[in-house]
Amino acid sequence: MAGADAADAAAGPAERKGVIMGTPTGATVVYADGTEERFTDLAGALARASDGRVEYHYAYGPDLLPPPAPDAAGMWRYRALLPLDEGPIRYPLPVGGTPLVASPGLRRRVGMPDLWVKDETRGPTGSNKDRATALVLEHALRAGAETVSCASTGNVAVSLAVGAAAAGLRAVIFVPEQVAESKLALMRLAGATVLKVREGYDAAMRFSRQAAATFGWFDRNTGYNPATLEAKKTVAFEIWEQLGREVPDVVVSPIGDGVTLSALAKGFRELIACGAAARLPRIIGVQAEGCQPVKRAWERGGPVEPVTPNTIADGIAVGDPLSGAPVLRDVRESGGEVVAVSDDAMLQAIGTLAAAAGILAEPAGAAALAGLEVALEAGLVRRDERVVVLATGTALKNPIFPPLAGAVHTVHADLDAVRRALGGG
Ligand SMILES: Cc1ncc(COP(=O)(O)O)c(C=O)c1O
Repeated sequence: MAGADAADAAAGPAERKGVIMGTPTGATVVYADGTEERFTDLAGALARASDGRVEYHYAYGPDLLPPPAPDAAGMWRYRALLPLDEGPIRYPLPVGGTPLVASPGLRRRVGMPDLWVKDETRGPTGSNKDRATALVLEHALRAGAETVSCASTGNVAVSLAVGAAAAGLRAVIFVPEQVAESKLALMRLAGATVLKVREGYDAAMRFSRQAAATFGWFDRNTGYNPATLEAKKTVAFEIWEQLGREVPDVVVSPIGDGVTLSALAKGFRELIACGAAARLPRIIGVQAEGCQPVKRAWERGGPVEPVTPNTIADGIAVGDPLSGAPVLRDVRESGGEVVAVSDDAMLQAIGTLAAAAGILAEPAGAAALAGLEVALEAGLVRRDERVVVLATGTALKNPIFPPLAGAVHTVHADLDAVRRALGGG
């Protein structure tokens, strides 16, 4: 895609005259073996979506980026770089515009004065999946669809269930049998039809695609529907704007199916293609030690080979990631790395985010901070660098905690008891 972007960006003023905002001009398909094919017709690219990942490109130029003053439109302010025709946005939930947190407590705790957390737990259902849901459901509403479907380890499912309820659509959701009960309850609360697939997430993904094709549902599946990549890349645009239109040195991202990380890379690449940035940040991908197919492929130098997940971090428990090949390409091109973290390290990172920064994360949501610690120890990141860590999912939906630090005292309603509890004798 880098080459494609350069070609689009190199188009002279005459070629760019007819640029229609929000209209992809072509697409690249990245196949599982890492080879790429460029298409000028989107239909041709989409016909290959089962064999690889479809990445749209646009007629890049500075005019596709919104003016500096941020407004209240959240993710939609980047709509000239999203596949979206003119017309009012019908999707009702707010999305994007999440804070880039400069937490003094966390900076002290980690010993990094220029550390930032992109707090994606602030979406309507508490994860970065809400961006992709919003764009897919906007497409579904405009297409007059009635039913939308997806497979999910949990967060996509909650996001789609709640988003569909808000948009007045029916959601059919395929989850692995061992889905977190707290997330399952939220899907049901929002009125979704949930199918637990005994064979696990990877099978659920393939099966849900088949079901969507058979029953004519609108398919939100991450990795297949290119809109999910497009929506998630807006995180990179926001980070760049929030840092004063500058690219950080490093961004740390969890890897499940891989869309979150490669969307980040796509966003930064598009900033370069638009002439707004000069380089990519180094992108460090983080997997769970109990599910590290991408890390293994990174070390071995071959394609991603499936594994059986064994980790508490359900969001990144993806044994056969659909976007493995683009993730390897993106990490390599950025000069980054892939690291793995233990379940214990993710639990500790949950505690650190909560107690030092006031950010409530689930295990996959805290994986990036745990990965940063690994990267620091391995000398992959310097403490004086400008580093952004993604916090991708909230603890409120999936309360898995480390040993709890805050003290609890059961007292009579009497001030002396308060003094004693505070250690004042
Ligand atoms: C909280 C959380 N973080 C990270 C990820 C990984 O994202 P991706 O599958 O796009 O790699 C997920 C995926 O479900 C998630 O729920």
